[in-house]
Amino acid sequence: MGGQRPIILGYLLLLAKAEGSTPAEAAKALGISRQGLYKALRKLRALGYVEQGSYIRLSESGRNALKEALRDLMGYFGMTAIRLEGYVARGLGEGAYYVSLEGYKRQIEEKLGFAPYPGTLNVVLTPDSLIYRRYLEALPGIVISGFSDGVRTYGSVKAFRCKMRGVDCALLVIERTHHGPEVVEIIAPVKLRDALGLKDGDPISVEVQLL
Ligand code: CDP
Repeated sequence: MGGQRPIILGYLLLLAKAEGSTPAEAAKALGISRQGLYKALRKLRALGYVEQGSYIRLSESGRNALKEALRDLMGYFGMTAIRLEGYVARGLGEGAYYVSLEGYKRQIEEKLGFAPYPGTLNVVLTPDSLIYRRYLEALPGIVISGFSDGVRTYGSVKAFRCKMRGVDCALLVIERTHHGPEVVEIIAPVKLRDALGLKDGDPISVEVQLL
């Protein structure tokens, strides 16, 4: 975005508010001229931040630009961490397989700074904490990119550094998952069940670094 970034962001925020409406409706609702609105739309479409079509809709890269802006804003206001409460649960026995894949393991080491114990600890969030899952979805996090091994493709995963009872670990937000939104998965350099003496049903709190 370069030097234009602040202007583009302003346009993006404006159009985000008007998603789902036509440009004429949006101009009216936002209290700006149609000319002004079309100018914003033209610029953002040229950059690929807004989809073509009769209704205003941000593209994935438009939403990603907003996520980065959100991260900057939260950093500015010191909103850097949240504490999630939940309880330990067993998973589907797939964590070990995925975490052991070279394509993920290498990136976890590079981007999170530890060699992961092969597996994920599943934490079921309490209803109060489930509300904050939105924060994790709306922020860029640390992206572990997807890859292909020639046979199948593996999706990208978003990670946030976190601590569980003082142990550095990472919370994963997985797109293609069999779980409901109340389940988050934690990776760590150690087997957390052993290190922290955890068993199914034990309450646990996770301090998540949002930025
Ligand atoms: O999916 P499931 O929970 O059955 O297992 P997994 O992801 O393959 O992980 C194997 C076991 O290690 C499970 O009991 C996890 O809860 C546990 N685990 C752990 O204690 N600490 C980690 N850092 C990762 C997994």
